[in-house]
Amino acid sequence: MCGIAGVISLGDIAERLVQCIHNLEYRGYDSCGVAMVNGSPHIHVRKNIGAVAEVSEKERFSSLAGHTGIAHTRWATHGKVTRENAHPHSSCAADFSVTHNGIISNHERLRARLTRDGHKFLSETDTEVIVHLVEDYFMKSMSVEKAFVAAIRELEGTYAVAMISSHEPDRIFCVRKESPLIIGLGTDANYVASDFNAFVDHTKKAVFIEDGEYAVVAHDSHSIKSIATGEAVCREVLELPWDSEMAQKGGFPHYMLKEIYEQPTVVNSALDIDEAKIENLARLTVEKNLVLTGVGTTFYITQFAQYMFSIYGGATPLALSSDEFRHLARMNKDSLVLAVSQSGETYDTLTALRVAKNQRASTAAIVNVMGSSMARTVDSLILQGSGPEICVLSTKAALSQMIILTRVALEAGVLRGTITRKEANARIKDLRAIPDAIERTLNEKSGFIHTIAKAQSHINHWLFLGRERYYPVARESALKMKEVSYVHAEGMPSGFLKHGTIALIDEKMNSVVFMPPKEQKELYDLSMSSVEEIRARGGYILGIMLEEKGKPPGVFSDVITLPKAPSFVAPYLQMVAAQLLSYFTAVTLKRNIDRPRSLAKSVTVA
Ligand code: F6R
Repeated sequence: MCGIAGVISLGDIAERLVQCIHNLEYRGYDSCGVAMVNGSPHIHVRKNIGAVAEVSEKERFSSLAGHTGIAHTRWATHGKVTRENAHPHSSCAADFSVTHNGIISNHERLRARLTRDGHKFLSETDTEVIVHLVEDYFMKSMSVEKAFVAAIRELEGTYAVAMISSHEPDRIFCVRKESPLIIGLGTDANYVASDFNAFVDHTKKAVFIEDGEYAVVAHDSHSIKSIATGEAVCREVLELPWDSEMAQKGGFPHYMLKEIYEQPTVVNSALDIDEAKIENLARLTVEKNLVLTGVGTTFYITQFAQYMFSIYGGATPLALSSDEFRHLARMNKDSLVLAVSQSGETYDTLTALRVAKNQRASTAAIVNVMGSSMARTVDSLILQGSGPEICVLSTKAALSQMIILTRVALEAGVLRGTITRKEANARIKDLRAIPDAIERTLNEKSGFIHTIAKAQSHINHWLFLGRERYYPVARESALKMKEVSYVHAEGMPSGFLKHGTIALIDEKMNSVVFMPPKEQKELYDLSMSSVEEIRARGGYILGIMLEEKGKPPGVFSDVITLPKAPSFVAPYLQMVAAQLLSYFTAVTLKRNIDRPRSLAKSVTVA
C-alpha cells in the first residue's frame, strides 16, 4: 500500500534509493518517483507511471546526483494513476518534497485553506497538502523541523511521511501514525522505509518509530522526538532476523513459486516455535472468550482455526473478517482477540485490535514481520518466523499460520480436557509429516498439476468446494485463483452448493472438490454427494485427495492424488496443491504473478 524510502549518505545515493523502492514494489506498483537535494535551492523530482524498473530507466533515476533523497512506489488511493499524482510531491518553491503512505482524512479542508492562501496544487492527491502545509509554516518560523512538526499536528488520518528540504540538505524528516515506518542504520548511510525489505541489502540494524513520534535522520545519526512535547525518545536498535538472500528469487521464475517451495522449511519453523509460547496463548484462549480475526487469506486461516478449535479445542470461537470487526464485535474484559497477519500492518486488522482494546479485550497476534505495528500493539505475540514473503499473494505465511493455530487449538483441547495429551501429541506427530509430503507433492505432482492448469486455462469460472475444515481451504484456494489468474472463482461449503449456486453448473463452470480422506466416512460421503450432483449436471470436477487404498472414484474428471500421509494433514497438503493450480493457471495466462493487477502486499488503508 505504497512504499516509501529515503537514503542519506555522504556520497551519491540514487542507485541505492532505486533499489530500495524496487524492494518495496510489492507494496504498490502503479507509479513511482524519486526526489533528491543536491545543492540547488530546488529539489529535483523524477516520476512517472509504471513499475520501478521501467520508470527508472525512462526517467533516468540513477543519474540523479545527490546524497539525500526520498522515493516512493504507489498504490493509488486519492487520484488516478497519473504522472502528476505520483509521489514525491513538492512545495510551490520546490524547496520541500514529501512521500507518503496512508490517507490524510482532512485533506479537503487543508487544501481549500492552502489554496486560499495562494498555494498551487498540481495533483489530486491527499498527500500534496502535507508539503504545502510545511512550506506555509516554514515561511513563519524559518525552521524546517518546526514547520514539519507544526504541519503534522494539523494532519488527521493515517500516515508515514518522509520529507527532504533544500534548506536542510543533510536531513530526512519522517513521521508515522498507523502506517509503518522504520529507520535503518548502515555503516555509510542511513535509511528510512516502510519496511526493512527496502534496505536489507545494506543493513540489518533498525529502529522502529512509534505513533506520535517523528525522527530526523542524518547520514551518521538519528534522533526521535515526541510530536506532542518535543522531548527526545530513546529507542532500542534491533538486529533484523532476515538477510538479503532470503528476499532474492534464488533461481525461481517467480517469488510465488519460490515461496511455495519454501513451505517444508516454513512448516518446520512453525512446528519448532517454543512450546511454552503455544501453551501461553492456548491458556489465554481457554480463559477468555476467543475471537479470531484476519482479512483476505488470513480470515480464511482464522476460519480454518475455528474448525480446529471446535473439533479439538473444545469450544467454537468466533472468526470475524477484520474489515467487518468493528461493525459486529461486542467485546469486554473477558474477551481475547487473536489477530492473524503476515505483514502485521494491515489496516483492517490493526483497527480490529484497536476496537478490541477500546472495549477492554485482551489482544494477541500471530504475525510474520518482527517489529510490525501489530507485533508492537498486542498483549501476547507469536512470531511465525516464515522469512520474507515477497509475492503479493500469501502462500507460505498462510500455511505457517494454519500450523501454529492448529498447535494452539490442540493445546487448548488438552487444557480443556476435550482431548488427551497423547492424542494431541499424535496429531503434532502427524503435522511433522507435512514437510516431507509437500516435498513429494512438489517433486511428483507439479507436472501433472501444470498439465491440468494448461488444459483448463480456457475456463473462466471455478467453484472451490469443501466441507468442515476443508471449507476454509476451498475459500482460500478460490481467493488464490482469483487474485493471481484474474479468473472468477468462488469458494463455498459443498453442502451449500445445492441451495442455489448449482444452477450455474454447466460445461463452462469447473469445480474443485477438496475431498476428506475415506476414514472420515460421514464427511467423505457427504462430499461425494456434492460431487455426484455436479456430475449429474455435466460439470468438470477436479478432486484433490490423499492417496488411499483403491482407485479414486471414477466420477471425477481429474484427480490430484497427494502422497500418502496421515489423514489429519490432508487439508494442509490440499492447500499447497491448490496454490500450484492457481500458479500454473496464471503462468499459462501470462499474468503478472508476483504483482497481480490492483493488489498490494500490505493494505494499510481503510
Ligand atoms: C491473499 C493475501 C491477502 C492478505 C490480506 C491480509 O493472498 O495476501 O488477502 O492475506 O491482505 O494481509 P496480512 O496477512 O498482511 O494482514
